[in-house]
Amino acid sequence: PKRVRTRHFSQAKRDGVKIVGLTSYDYLSAGIFDRAGIDFLLVGDSAGNTVFGYDTTLPVTVEELIPLTRAVARAAKRALVIADLPFGSYETNPREAVHTAIRFMKETGAHAVKLEGGERSAEQIRRIVEAGIPVMAHIGYTPQSEHGLGGHVIQARGDAGVEQLLRDARAVEDAGAFAVVLEMVPSESARQVTEALSIPTISVGAGPHCDGQLLVWSDWAGFTSGRIPKFVKQYAQLAQTLEDAAVSFREDVSSGAYPAREHEYE
Ligand code: KIV
Ligand code: NA
Repeated sequence: PKRVRTRHFSQAKRDGVKIVGLTSYDYLSAGIFDRAGIDFLLVGDSAGNTVFGYDTTLPVTVEELIPLTRAVARAAKRALVIADLPFGSYETNPREAVHTAIRFMKETGAHAVKLEGGERSAEQIRRIVEAGIPVMAHIGYTPQSEHGLGGHVIQARGDAGVEQLLRDARAVEDAGAFAVVLEMVPSESARQVTEALSIPTISVGAGPHCDGQLLVWSDWAGFTSGRIPKFVKQYAQLAQTLEDAAVSFREDVSSGAYPAREHEYE
């Protein structure tokens, strides 16, 4: 299959073709999503929650994300693979941001990086792009600033909120981002941003007017136990499927039903 490139993102927006992404953190899931034709795979710092079991994404390190990103990149034959820059690896100054982005590109096989922040991260985006690395921006609700934002709250409500979202969106577009994630904003705010920009907007709970949609795969597949955000549609119930399978296995071993004749070597 031909590799999805960042130019296909802008082409898709011009053509009105929706862009579809999922997160992935490992080789098996990445291969499945790639074969299914998912356009991009984000190795999100949501791995902090889904893989490592932290309460937030704040503790996630570059060292933790690099091996996961490498595994996803190995599996993806068509999908564009995007490495998420973790909290504390790019905010201090543009040099640090370029350094971290280069590490991901050299050590993982990812094709682009993502970082959080609009106006406040514009200089970082500009410098990473100048180094030849495509950047996906991320505005609206930005989980790495959960404590600054006062919790998991919808962003860009009201006129002032929409104005700030538009300023952030224009700042990342001007800085050279090839796409921008809008997380947890009202559909109408996302529509205004999508119309104002020439780069595609990717919705994570930002409604139907965006140029693409992205979900955390474990939420989307019902693999996550616990609370799922309202904007997620669950396409499978993997947690229940696996739990049922584990119970059956335990019962079969207890009863002697497993292994059966066909599982034995002569
Ligand atoms: O880490 C992540 O999964 C993300 C997306 C939800 C945007 O940043
Ligand atoms: Na993230």
